[in-house]
Amino acid sequence: MPIRKMNIDDYEKVYQLWMSCKNMGFNNLDDSKEGIEKFLRRNPDTSFVAEYDDKIIGIILSGHDGRRGYIYHMSVDERFRKQGIGTQLVEKCLSALKDEGINKAALLVFNRNETGNSFWEKMGFSPRNDITYRNKELNEIIRIDT
Ligand SMILES: CC(C)(COP(=O)(O)OP(=O)(O)OC[C@H]1O[C@@H](n2cnc3c(N)ncnc32)[C@H](O)[C@@H]1OP(=O)(O)O)[C@@H](O)C(=O)NCCC(=O)NCCS
Repeated sequence: MPIRKMNIDDYEKVYQLWMSCKNMGFNNLDDSKEGIEKFLRRNPDTSFVAEYDDKIIGIILSGHDGRRGYIYHMSVDERFRKQGIGTQLVEKCLSALKDEGINKAALLVFNRNETGNSFWEKMGFSPRNDITYRNKELNEIIRIDT
């Protein structure tokens, strides 16, 4: 399965794949074409897509702030799941983050996303039950929960 770095020309196909996945959290700013372009400009080498027949069937968006690696919106087309594509995307991403000197990677998964939580457990991402995740909006954001 060919896996390559994501670029902004992939956006429309990637967005379509994201919207086809349940139990994921998006928003109108960070996940707009402009938002993803900004993210990829800052993190050009750590996000990957899997392709099949000119279609994008898997995506892992990831980047870092010089300290922690963050993974977002990991998705595999439901027709291609349980074939190891998600695992391959995670391996590519973690290797790219490591190459950039990053020592730890983190991500968020909705509690209700059982598949996502099983997947990340298998990938070795442990839950942190001693932490409360807090955030604050700096601009008016519209959530897009799938
Ligand atoms: C989560 C997701 C990316 C996994 O992709 P995938 O290509 O099917 O994953 P893999 O085939 O590499 O699976 C690796 C392991 O994850 C676990 N896993 C994957 N799908 C699972 C499921 N439906 N139920 C339970 N465990 C699952 C298994 O342990 C699996 O190992 P195994 O095949 O040896 O049993 C895919 O199901 C998906 O896109 N889901 C919708 C979007 C989503 O929830 N993303 C994560 C949110 S952050």
